[in-house]
Amino acid sequence: MSKLTGSKKATQFTESVIREMTRLNDLHGGINLSQGFPDFPAPEIVKDAACAAIRADINQYAVTWGARPLREAIAAQFSSRYGVPIVADEQVTVCCGSTEAMMATMLAIIDPGDEVIVFEPFYENYGPDAILSGATPRYVTLHEPDWTFDPNELAAAFNDKTKAIILNTPNNPTGKVFARHELETIAALCRKWDAIAISDEIYEHIIYDGRTHLPIATIEGMADRTVTINGLSKTYSVTGWRVGWTISPPSLTGAIRKVHDFLTVGAAAPLQEAGAVALAMPESYYAALAANYQRRRDAVVEMLERHHFTCYKPAGAYYIMTDISAFGFANDVEFARYLVKEVGVAAVPGSSFYKSAVAGRTKLRFCFCKREETLREADRRLERLVPAATKIH
Ligand SMILES: Cc1ncc(COP(=O)(O)O)c(C=O)c1O
Repeated sequence: MSKLTGSKKATQFTESVIREMTRLNDLHGGINLSQGFPDFPAPEIVKDAACAAIRADINQYAVTWGARPLREAIAAQFSSRYGVPIVADEQVTVCCGSTEAMMATMLAIIDPGDEVIVFEPFYENYGPDAILSGATPRYVTLHEPDWTFDPNELAAAFNDKTKAIILNTPNNPTGKVFARHELETIAALCRKWDAIAISDEIYEHIIYDGRTHLPIATIEGMADRTVTINGLSKTYSVTGWRVGWTISPPSLTGAIRKVHDFLTVGAAAPLQEAGAVALAMPESYYAALAANYQRRRDAVVEMLERHHFTCYKPAGAYYIMTDISAFGFANDVEFARYLVKEVGVAAVPGSSFYKSAVAGRTKLRFCFCKREETLREADRRLERLVPAATKIH
């Protein structure tokens, strides 16, 4: 057999459906409510800081695990916000986006045969992350409409082989924000089975209706067994900068840094400098960010309901999971293709967030991190949609 083929690993997952929808959208001149990136400008102060860093000739490799000003800012912000002391030199590793932070963490802690628990529906990267790192994923369902998990189902997923559980709060795609009692249930199981929590908190500041974000690292006994993942992308509207990080217990930092170093050496040096400036923004910035997104959430839920979607109103993050049964299509992929080609609006088929496509076939995810004009144009185009008599069964 020819050796001119991809590896077995690479054949076990497909290309990203989310990014494919963006390409389809561009092809059909659609309004892109699929991939989660803002179409409005990043804050001036952050852009100015990046330009200043380039002009100041901060253009060579930063320290592989991250420029000191950014690492110190990350440690200081987490410590003061959540009361968990973080030592930048021992616990913070800056990566190329939280995407690399997750991959580096998985590669650093997983051995073949280790099991990793993933809540489903999940952010689509976690599946390939598990395959590439050699983990055996075990899925635990977040049950709609509140996207809660059954503590017995979660307990049944843990065993001696469980190395880690991946958590994402506020959650993509559901908008769920994990409550304290849920985090305590997860934490108790992590402690019981000596497992690590890998907590993707990239939507930390995008949270609604007066809720506050609660990192699992703040739950008793978890600071020593949690890798918290975050980044600049969503909080500062700079998804193209590719700056993210891990906050890990010192016992895991060395392994994460080694993997990170050989994967990418480091994130863009001038953008790390700008990251330190971004993290120093006042509380009012974060309050305005959440308030602006909350307004958009309310408008887009109203819009989608008017166009016959059933919405699961998000408590955080900038996505709305919807039910599309009313439109009578065979499945979510067929509907998503129709929507982008014939209506001119791109969204993500629900099946890309589930292990088994069937589980997501009546779902579609919209993102609303877009300008008001963009959302109004989507509204105008969605007028063309009509509900069908036949429903998806
Ligand atoms: C849950 C989640 N984690 C990570 C990422 C990627 O973040 P980054 O741009 O930092 O790689 C996204 C982007 O959509 C996301 O939704």
